[in-house]
Amino acid sequence: MAGRIPQAFIDDLVARSDIVEVIGARVPLKKSGREYKACCPFHNEKSPSFWVSPDKQFYHCFGCSAHGTVIGFLMQYEKLDFLEAVADLAQRAGLELPREAAGERDASGGGLYELMAQAARYFAQNLSDHARARDYLAARGIDAPTAAKFALGYAMDSWNALLNRFGTQAEDRRRLQQAGLIIERDVRGGERAPGFYDRFRDRLMFPIRDSRGRVLAFGGRVIDQGEPKYLNSPETPLFHKGRELYGLYEARQAHVDFKRLMIVEGYMDVVRLHQAGITYAVATLGTATTQEHLNKVFRMTSELVFCFDGDRAGRQAAWRALENALPLARDGREFKFLFLPEGHDPDTLVAAEGREAFESRLKDALPLSEYLVQHLSAQVDREHVDGRAKLAALAAPLFARMPEGVYRELLADRLAAEIRMPAAKLREHLLGPGARREPTAARAGTEPPPSGRGRLNAGRGNLLSQAIRLLLQHPAAAAAVDPQASLDAVDQPGVAVLKELLTQAVNMTSPSTAMLLERWRGRPEYARLAELALAEPLVMETAAAGQELKMAVARIVHEYGPRRRVEELLRKDTEMGLNTQEKTELSALLQSSGRPRISS
Ligand code: UTP
Ligand code: MN
Repeated sequence: MAGRIPQAFIDDLVARSDIVEVIGARVPLKKSGREYKACCPFHNEKSPSFWVSPDKQFYHCFGCSAHGTVIGFLMQYEKLDFLEAVADLAQRAGLELPREAAGERDASGGGLYELMAQAARYFAQNLSDHARARDYLAARGIDAPTAAKFALGYAMDSWNALLNRFGTQAEDRRRLQQAGLIIERDVRGGERAPGFYDRFRDRLMFPIRDSRGRVLAFGGRVIDQGEPKYLNSPETPLFHKGRELYGLYEARQAHVDFKRLMIVEGYMDVVRLHQAGITYAVATLGTATTQEHLNKVFRMTSELVFCFDGDRAGRQAAWRALENALPLARDGREFKFLFLPEGHDPDTLVAAEGREAFESRLKDALPLSEYLVQHLSAQVDREHVDGRAKLAALAAPLFARMPEGVYRELLADRLAAEIRMPAAKLREHLLGPGARREPTAARAGTEPPPSGRGRLNAGRGNLLSQAIRLLLQHPAAAAAVDPQASLDAVDQPGVAVLKELLTQAVNMTSPSTAMLLERWRGRPEYARLAELALAEPLVMETAAAGQELKMAVARIVHEYGPRRRVEELLRKDTEMGLNTQEKTELSALLQSSGRPRISS
């Protein structure tokens, strides 16, 4: 993701942005020594444990351990994804997003965003101008403030109203087509003159907006009868169906924080629910819920309710949603499934019974595990051994898709009870031998122990993590390290991290902690590095840090580098003797590390 934006641009952006200013605009900060503090915006508290460091350009909460750079803060606070946060900062800093990053989401979208905004305004105007559309909306029980909140509109019953309005130049028509608003005529057979026509005709228009409120696409519902009932914009440079959720922008406008989000099936459902005060409703756009949707949702809330019509299509959609949700069923996330009475959808139900009655149904929503077990149980005869074996067999592939954690453990327990089999035995069956019940990382609330390549060395890491900590806390100290200090001779995973950090720091103009950390976003080392960056500073001043770092690096070279090789060569020397080349190497090594030369 970050790969599409050049690193130098991110460096520049972080360097130009002031985290105190960005956070201060959203959270009341109080100066305290060299840093600023506030009550944490990410959890409830009475006394401040949220700190912002202007030196490190980093924030950290000692209460809930939220932490990050200015980019991370925007992502967490404004619920933006990485590109959105970067675009936001770039705009504030007056920087243009670089071309290679631009593509589908650049700040101007090649003018497509502006065009979509114009089209939305045009449709909204049509809605107030045409009684036919106004009456339809009224008949559906939508009031004017709600229509305005969702920027609803009307596409006239015409083949070229929009085309004539916005497509006078050939260049304009090309962009309208790119935006999915007009369609090129099929001229096979040459019966018709080449040209274009409006995609949306005589339809109530629902603008689909991104998290910043920009119109990406439209859904259009026929007024009265007609096929298809709903017509969506095609995939365009701005719009990818599987990524957007209808109503999310509006939901975010209504809430600082969500207790939950609810995914319903239709545009009208969302609009009607919001009107009734259920402002946490969103909808997919005529597709199943994708993992991209779910990732988006869980950046904002930890509870998701899927709401489905009680009919067969609704139940099918629910099961598909469950299958897609399984890989994301991690601890701390709650999935629920709410089935409405047959013959109702959220639109008609909330109109019939009102907000309170509707919301009281949430109490009876099925947790994921319960829904899964019920759904599978319904397919077998649990009174017979065969049926129970079949149940286990049906569950196995679903189980395999779930991440390890409490969620999966609970499901195993629930299934075991259903199958009447000891839980341990079932677990073995479902996950294969070796799947013991033991506290998982998530359960113990700790990171798994560092292991393997790419992790910082845990054992001998003291020296190493000290060096990394110095460097992260005082990136400018990197300049003090002798570039000849032959870390290159050291082949050791943790040392590779240090080497990379050193290279990054010396190549940055005025490096900061935040700039360095941003280089590691998305890599497995990130969490550990952030932790080291946050640790108590080893020294306060950069000059002192430079000296310390220089010494630490020298010791690391000594510790991990040539000494190993020297020991190896000395051993070989006593065991079988050395050849000329090895003798030269050994004596060079010994000379540089200050030991007496051995005679040959
Ligand atoms: P439904 O057919 O359940 O309609 O489609 P609805 O939402 O209840 O609409 P109203 O109340 O009759 O106006 C549910 C969703 O499926 C997608 C749309 O996103 C719709 O909101 N859909 C449906 C389409 O994309 N195309 C269609 O032709 C029909
Ligand atoms: Mn409906």
